[in-house]
Amino acid sequence: MIIETHAHYDDEAFDADREELLRELPENGIGRVINVGASMQTTRNSIALAEKYPFIYAAVGVHPDDVAELDETAMEELRGYCRREITVAVGEIGLDYYWHKEPEHQKLQQHWFRQQLVIAREEKLPFIIHSRDAAQDTFEILKQENAGEIGGVVHCYSYSVELAREYVRMGLYIGIGGVVTFKNARKLKEVAADIPLDRILLETDSPYMAPTPYRGKRNCSLYLPYVAEEIARLRGITTEEVIEATEANARRVFAKLV
Ligand code: NI
Repeated sequence: MIIETHAHYDDEAFDADREELLRELPENGIGRVINVGASMQTTRNSIALAEKYPFIYAAVGVHPDDVAELDETAMEELRGYCRREITVAVGEIGLDYYWHKEPEHQKLQQHWFRQQLVIAREEKLPFIIHSRDAAQDTFEILKQENAGEIGGVVHCYSYSVELAREYVRMGLYIGIGGVVTFKNARKLKEVAADIPLDRILLETDSPYMAPTPYRGKRNCSLYLPYVAEEIARLRGITTEEVIEATEANARRVFAKLV
């Protein structure tokens, strides 16, 4: 089966047909879905979806865009969710300097990134990292926090092949989605061909980042075979091999997936 390791099905882009679309996934080979929180509200939404659908699991955490809402009360709420059977990861957490150039906001992001890594460590859950235009600081923080011991994935990987190898050396996984199918995605194609197959996770980031031939449209997990096909083509193996390996990888890192 295909394991979708990163989607946001609580997004309003799915309001019109969420129920129908989600029911279609398992019968089309998408056997498990991790719905990822990005704020306190979308974390609650992820928990609600995981409660409703047996094949959906939750990741709980606050994205760098929304860290201003975090305080000790919110952190306790996150910890509570971590202890639920349906929660498989802390995320998405990390740094985003593309949208936030102000040093004060970047400091705030770093603080709550570290604090959420502490939760992941203490609650024995892997993390899901969002990192954009913040390669150096993300890597430094993960190294300083000994994040390899916790385990996790760098989602929607967008950096160099050299840095991807460093993450693999740390014991982390690399999340690859629709971008790998884009003609101009030279760097990511190189990463997808280079890093060990046992370190790659399939993801969409739905509703964003739809693969070719749906580029620019609403994304959904049904398009994951396009991502698997492209990875297979780049590596000279079969799509089935990519699907099997990435399922095993997802089960290894997200150990609470049943
Ligand atoms: Ni996301």
